[in-house]
Amino acid sequence: MIGRLNHVAIAVPDLAAAIAQYSGALGANVGAPQDEPDHGVTVVFIELPNTKIELLYPLGENSPIRGFLDKNPAGGIHHICYEVDDIAAARKQLTASGARVLGDGPPKIGAHGKPVIFLHPKDFNGCLIELEEV
Ligand code: CO
Repeated sequence: MIGRLNHVAIAVPDLAAAIAQYSGALGANVGAPQDEPDHGVTVVFIELPNTKIELLYPLGENSPIRGFLDKNPAGGIHHICYEVDDIAAARKQLTASGARVLGDGPPKIGAHGKPVIFLHPKDFNGCLIELEEV
């Protein structure tokens, strides 16, 4: 069911330092920071030849990234995103298998303007998984 790896999201404690590191030492093509108030994050997209990296930095008081950084002060991988053709079918197949989808409602619109769902990390080896319909 899952297709390509769409992105790996990394929560960072210092966005300017992370941008400097990726554009400098790692020599990557780093985009401009984008505020996503609906998601409580500032995102920086980094295009790699085969996938994307997203740097996540907390935006606002209720950012879901803040608690993650409290537990992981040096930053860390927050989630990975796989592509799917049909998010409703994916959700149905996963819930039928016993996996937990975070949130109750319909898929949300993610940072790329496409529908996404998140799967409970405890059901997937401790890894928060995002599925994005492409
Ligand atoms: Co993501």
